[in-house]
Amino acid sequence: MAEIRSVGVVGAGQMGSGIAQLAAVNGVDVWLHDTDAEVLGRAQTSISKNIQRQVSKGSISQDNGADAIRRLKFTTKLSDFHSVDLVIEAIVESEDVKKGVFAQLEKIVKSSTILASNTSSISITRLATATSRPGQVIGMHFMNPPPIMKLVEIIRGADTSDQTYDAVRCLAERWGKTVIFSNDYPGFIVNRILMPMINEAFHTLHTGVATKEDIDTGMKLGTGHPMGPLELADFIGLDVCLSILKVLHAGLGDNRYAPCPLLVQYVDAGRLGRKRGIGVYNYSTGPKEIKP
Ligand code: NAI
Repeated sequence: MAEIRSVGVVGAGQMGSGIAQLAAVNGVDVWLHDTDAEVLGRAQTSISKNIQRQVSKGSISQDNGADAIRRLKFTTKLSDFHSVDLVIEAIVESEDVKKGVFAQLEKIVKSSTILASNTSSISITRLATATSRPGQVIGMHFMNPPPIMKLVEIIRGADTSDQTYDAVRCLAERWGKTVIFSNDYPGFIVNRILMPMINEAFHTLHTGVATKEDIDTGMKLGTGHPMGPLELADFIGLDVCLSILKVLHAGLGDNRYAPCPLLVQYVDAGRLGRKRGIGVYNYSTGPKEIKP
């Protein structure tokens, strides 16, 4: 099995930029792509700040930090991915948009390139149908923020090969992650369990059972969660939570996954969470930002 030495990351939002940082710090050459040049510029600034912070905390050496920054390249052209060994797609949680990107990648990358998706919930088997290499398509679901969180959930589609699975699992382990494996069902393991809890927290707020602060404090101090469910939803992005719940609802056909109307309303209002400065909480006064 050839070692993965270069990675192309599609989407420079919160997950894509964190994955690019993680890969570069672990000695891999990285192309980070986004169609939005402004997002790409912001990602470049925040990744280099985060790497400098890792150096000043002593978690990586000065040389390692400088190497990582040299390894990172930023582009608005997907065609720059022509020689990467692995692509990790981390764009908007929409099956159609992701399939469009997979179909484009198919025409650009080498025949040996593995195509991974960081999707939170969408079927890997269906994403693979946008390509002619279903054996080389896999789910590689990082947690937020990718440089810090220890878990990677790996999902095999119906036709994912053993070779692809082994290559991706070894890479995640080399990057210091613990791997769990999920079969290809909506939401896989983590979001199938997490999203109904977040949805229930919205119902609890919506029906006036309690305040947002008491819901979050209850779950933090009552069950030992590091963040309350509403705070966590803001951190993930309310638009991302809504998209995942829609996939769970459609795919599992059970009304308990139907998104709470309050969550839908917040997303309609553009209250997407920390990334927009307002979600359930207002971040001019609310919980502090978590820095990777
Ligand atoms: P985000 O909204 O922060 O970033 C998405 C980025 O993709 C944006 O910068 C956008 O400009 C870019 N984009 C959209 N269409 C594109 C295209 N066709 N080509 C290139 N770039 C494109 O979203 P986030 O939170 O980073 O989520 C990305 C993916 O990661 C989603 O599939 C989500 O479900 C998954 N995920 C999210 C987690 C979270 O906590 N937010 C955790 C784990 C997975």
